[in-house]
Amino acid sequence: MHKETVVSQEAYTTAAGGSSVGTAVQVEKPPARRRSKELFAETLGRRLVRRVSAVPGARSLWRAFPAGPLALRVEYGISARPHYLYGLYNAASLAKQLGLPAISAIEFGVAGGRGLLAMEAIAGEVSRNLGVQIKIYGFDGGTGMPPPVDYRDVAHVWDQGFYKMDQEALKARLQNASLVIGEVHKTVPGFLANSDAPPIGFVAFDLDYYSSTRAALQVLEGPAGSHLPRTYCYFDDLLWPEIACHNEYIGELAAIRDFNLEHEALKVCPINMFSYMHNYRAPWHEQMYVFHDFHHPLYCVNITPKTSYHTDLPL
Ligand SMILES: C[S@@+](CC[C@H](N)C(=O)[O-])C[C@H]1O[C@@H](n2cnc3c(N)ncnc32)[C@H](O)[C@@H]1O
Repeated sequence: MHKETVVSQEAYTTAAGGSSVGTAVQVEKPPARRRSKELFAETLGRRLVRRVSAVPGARSLWRAFPAGPLALRVEYGISARPHYLYGLYNAASLAKQLGLPAISAIEFGVAGGRGLLAMEAIAGEVSRNLGVQIKIYGFDGGTGMPPPVDYRDVAHVWDQGFYKMDQEALKARLQNASLVIGEVHKTVPGFLANSDAPPIGFVAFDLDYYSSTRAALQVLEGPAGSHLPRTYCYFDDLLWPEIACHNEYIGELAAIRDFNLEHEALKVCPINMFSYMHNYRAPWHEQMYVFHDFHHPLYCVNITPKTSYHTDLPL
């Protein structure tokens, strides 16, 4: 079942449970058939980039001098936080394809704030590039880790008081991100109930504990209008430290598993064969998940580019 690519305001307003989540914009008309010369030059260029980037040290050098189109840098992970770049870029692209003018991006677990500052900087570039507004929120208790609840919180590794935050120092550095301070099991329901935030497109989970991550995942249990049909998610604590011995019964993996067990049509899943679809391998490929809301009114909107290159399979 494929619906029209242009999304009506009505569809999204209905999805939002009656509240308007922004004006849907007209999706660009598909471009005319690509000229074969252009296609040839592009293919040649891509092959060259692939070859050069495979030379040892080339990608590190590229990261130090991040030149070239943003889409290409996303493809090659040219960023200090390639997972944030990938998630923000793909979320904003999806919003654009669905005709939505803005998205929210969230970091759960801020601590000193290095991740949130990186998210702000990357979101700024993605937003300018794609013309989609990105509103950023950082959730944290503000006083370091709370006490672990039980063994699922990986208490053999993390403990109360780790990773304290200097709120004033961080606020002085933040440009436009909003800090949501407090225990996530209290702040997340409040955020969903009161916020006029645009639909959530990307979430970075870095709360370490099972209990905190399970509470944070509630942010994806809101009405359809509060998130994209597919929301990109990054989970920081699926590997390291080795002594954690991560598995599906503790920590973030257990929170994902329980969330999926509790919902029939809401699922948080890895992207199958993600690494294989990229030009290089990296651990974060296995930390990138996507939240699916299968009953979201925009889930089946067809987002395949309408060019012959994508839609024809000639002899
Ligand atoms: C590892 S740190 C985050 C690091 C940060 N993302 C970065 O990249 O620099 C984990 C943070 O999660 C926060 N946290 C853990 N459980 C929480 C909870 N239940 N409510 C609010 N914050 C929590 C802690 O306060 C801590 O600052």
